[in-house]
Amino acid sequence: MKRKVIIAGNWKMHKTAQEGCTFVKDLAPLVEEQEVYIAPSFMAIKPLVDLKTPIVIGAQNMHDAVEGAYTGEVSAQMLKDVGAQFVILGHSERRHVFGESDELINRKIKRALEEGIQPIFCIGETLEEREQGRTHEVLKRQIDTGLAGVNLDTLILAYEPVWAIGTGKTATPEIAEEAHEFCRQYVGDRPILYGGSVKPDNAEALLAQPNIDGFLVGGASLSVETFSKIIEVNKKVIR
Ligand code: PGA
Repeated sequence: MKRKVIIAGNWKMHKTAQEGCTFVKDLAPLVEEQEVYIAPSFMAIKPLVDLKTPIVIGAQNMHDAVEGAYTGEVSAQMLKDVGAQFVILGHSERRHVFGESDELINRKIKRALEEGIQPIFCIGETLEEREQGRTHEVLKRQIDTGLAGVNLDTLILAYEPVWAIGTGKTATPEIAEEAHEFCRQYVGDRPILYGGSVKPDNAEALLAQPNIDGFLVGGASLSVETFSKIIEVNKKVIR
C-alpha cells in the first residue's frame, strides 16, 4: 500500500502572526489533495488555525509536564486549546542548542499523544557520528529511547541528518533512502519524512525513493514560491 506523502514546513523563529497569515492565505489555494503541515511560532498558531484552510497547523515544541511552575513554557493542553494538530519533537536544534535528551523527548512524545496531538519525532546523526560509522547506532538509540512505550498509531518520524540542516548540503537520495530503510524496521508503515536542505530542485529525486514519505522543510518553507514548488513535486513523483 502506498503511504501518504506529507510536506511539512518548520518556520523556526521566523514570521510574525501577520506575516504567517499572509503566507497561508497565499499558499492555501495552491494546496489540493496534498497533506501540507506548517509549524509557525507559538504566537502564530491560533491566527493560522482561525483561517480554517486545509493546511494543518502545529507547533515546534512543547513542555513535557501537564502544567506547573515552568516560566516561559507551553503545555500540550495549551497547544490543543488553540487548535494545534501536531508538534515537532526532538528537532536537532532542540537537542543540540537546548540540550534535550532522548529521555525528555520520549516524555514529550507521550504527553503529546495523551493530549491527542500528533508528534513529528525528529532523529538524525551529526557529521562526526556519520564519519565514525555510527549512524545506525545513533538512530537506533534515538528511536529506542524516544519511542519507548509509545503507541505508534499517529506518529510521524523525520530523519534529519544534522549535517544537512540549514547547511545547503542535502543527503543524496541514496544516503537518505538507506537511513529511511534502516528506520523503517522500527516504525512499520508510519510515514518517514526527510529533512535537511530540501529545495525544489532536490525534492523530486528524494521523493522518488521508496521509503521517503515526504519532507520536513526549514528554509525553503519560508517562501510561498519555493514551498509550493516542493508541494507540486509530490504530484509528479510515482513511487
Ligand atoms: P532546512 O531545515 O530545510 O533549512 O535545512 C530543516 C529542518 O530544520 O527541519
